[in-house]
Amino acid sequence: MLKLRQSALLVLLGLAGVAQAQPVWISVGDQGYQLLRKLDAGAKSRESRQLAADGRLAKGAVGETVHLVQVDEALLPKLSDSIHENLRHCGGFIVHRDLKEAQAALKGAAAPLAGLVAPSYAIDNQAAVNQLLPQLQDSNILGTIQSLSNYQNRFYTTSHGVNASNWIAAQWKQLAGNRGDVTVEQFAHASWPQKSVILTIKGTDNSAETIVLGGHLDSTVGSGTGESSRAPGADDDASGVASLTEVIRVLLAGNYQPRRTIKFMAYSAEEVGLRGSADIAKRFKQQQAKVVGALQLDMTNYQGDAQDIFLFTDYTNAAQNTFLANLAKVYLPSLKVGYSQCGYACSDHASWNAQGYAASFPFESSFNNSNPYIHSRNDTLASSGNQAKHALKFSQLALAYAVELGSDGPAAKLR
Ligand code: BES
Ligand code: ZN
Repeated sequence: MLKLRQSALLVLLGLAGVAQAQPVWISVGDQGYQLLRKLDAGAKSRESRQLAADGRLAKGAVGETVHLVQVDEALLPKLSDSIHENLRHCGGFIVHRDLKEAQAALKGAAAPLAGLVAPSYAIDNQAAVNQLLPQLQDSNILGTIQSLSNYQNRFYTTSHGVNASNWIAAQWKQLAGNRGDVTVEQFAHASWPQKSVILTIKGTDNSAETIVLGGHLDSTVGSGTGESSRAPGADDDASGVASLTEVIRVLLAGNYQPRRTIKFMAYSAEEVGLRGSADIAKRFKQQQAKVVGALQLDMTNYQGDAQDIFLFTDYTNAAQNTFLANLAKVYLPSLKVGYSQCGYACSDHASWNAQGYAASFPFESSFNNSNPYIHSRNDTLASSGNQAKHALKFSQLALAYAVELGSDGPAAKLR
């Protein structure tokens, strides 16, 4: 589709006699970049990263710095020649479809699923969203956080961790009631006993396209993660699971029927390297699942800044982040949105991002002002003031996201 439109444009430009200078994004190793600068002194590295060649970026010595540069397409044959002559290897750069894909490649993410088209991100379900939003109640979120943090811990290996997964599955099953289009399953992982929990609302006429909203159900303390260690994990991440549970409750109570399939996930084993979500995201990619978007809620109940919701810009999708900012503007105009970064793959959104899916991570504060009590026995509800008012904002944003993205049909507006 994109290619068609580009070539059509080129034909038109050609007919009009306009010079066909076409800027493209390439990734190129450091030595190739130096040669490029000789050909075009104006070429500038937009970002760079030192990494082992992974097959999706320009080849170079392992550990070589790779740069993202925008160049005129007409220069590429000359660059290729120059690299061949001077460095004695072929190519030496890779042309990316657009800046987004180039940046994903630089971060080491997989290519997006072939044929998966970006959604329109249209905001056109005001009636449904505005009817459902006021039904979200912080008292329910508070209750769920309390129940989850009452477990001694929710480690991925302990009996408590297993029980917490079973408890979430039972809660979600209760909310599902006897609706034929809603299922709850526990996703078993090969290497540890704590299962992830997945609630699915099957889409009506666009069920092959799926939206994922997730949080992690496990907890941790820095050290001594045995049966009897105390790790309440009230904010990290009972809060995220509780925010999502309240969205599930309201969507199902309102008998909302999405056109796309919506999946809510409580991941196991996040605290030990995003292992539960990595397992699931890999499986989905293998099965070529059309995941249009993934939203991660991990830590929603500790307000560390004047702004309410921070959109994390790394390991996430810029277009979907903009969509979230727009949803907040339209539906939650009193909320202030900020931007921040972890600087590393800090939560389960990164697992979806790594598989080439559009992921976002709206977070309770800026990275630097986040809850200082996490990963300790003091990550309790009391540390967030025994209330769930902050977590409610994340339920509101997540509900708007689920309904607006969930309500698009097979012939979405931009296709
Ligand atoms: N909820 C945290 C991530 C987090 C902490 C984000 C503080 C922003 C501010 C998550 O559960 C976690 O602890 N992640 C690990 C990394 C993971 C790959 C094991 C971390 O941040 O150390
Ligand atoms: Zn954590």
